[in-house]
Amino acid sequence: MSESKGFYSLPALPYGYGDLAPFISEQLLRVHHDGHHQKYVNQANALLEKLDKARVDGTMGPMKCDTQALAFNAGGHYLHQLYWSNMAPASSGGGGKPGGTIADLLEQEFGSFERFKQEFTEVANSVESSGWAVLVMCMQTDRPMLMQVKDHHLYSIPGFRVLMVLDVWEHAYYLDYRNEKAKYNKAFWDVVNWDEVDRRAEKILGTEKVESRKAVNSATAHVIPKR
Ligand SMILES: [Fe+2]
Repeated sequence: MSESKGFYSLPALPYGYGDLAPFISEQLLRVHHDGHHQKYVNQANALLEKLDKARVDGTMGPMKCDTQALAFNAGGHYLHQLYWSNMAPASSGGGGKPGGTIADLLEQEFGSFERFKQEFTEVANSVESSGWAVLVMCMQTDRPMLMQVKDHHLYSIPGFRVLMVLDVWEHAYYLDYRNEKAKYNKAFWDVVNWDEVDRRAEKILGTEKVESRKAVNSATAHVIPKR
């Protein structure tokens, strides 16, 4: 696997392999992180190397196939990075309720934290086949939004910023929960790293948001109502 600049690398987990139990067992976390996530990193890097070589050689590969595969694997890498870091063991602050900016955002959008949990859980429960439950921020409306991302890259909207993700591929839970995905989705709330989700919200709502809003307002002020 390439570890050099310009390529992806597997990040170390911010906690021990057994630290998320009983939400996720050590065995499952090792398979998921060292096996599945590593594979997405390797495959994305292999595709980048293939594209690099073709440009040097002056050849043209199957671009439709290669770019779709790159989106799948790079998307898998990005989403797994976010997933690992938006969880934490209970002993390190995982679970409980959000505070700060993210708490205000959720309260404003969903009416209450409990309503947000219900909606997010239903989004996760209703994912068909392989996908993710994702809380994003729309930079045009300044509103958080729930989405289902199919595989790692479909039904997603470029430009939306990710606040929190839950992996609901079967490989994320089947070893521990078998076919009881809803139990896994429910247990997720015991390990959410709200401090990390709040940091993402603060970053998104910082200077990037101000600049984005300026651009949007100048281009579409007649379309987008001010909230
Ligand atoms: Fe996964």
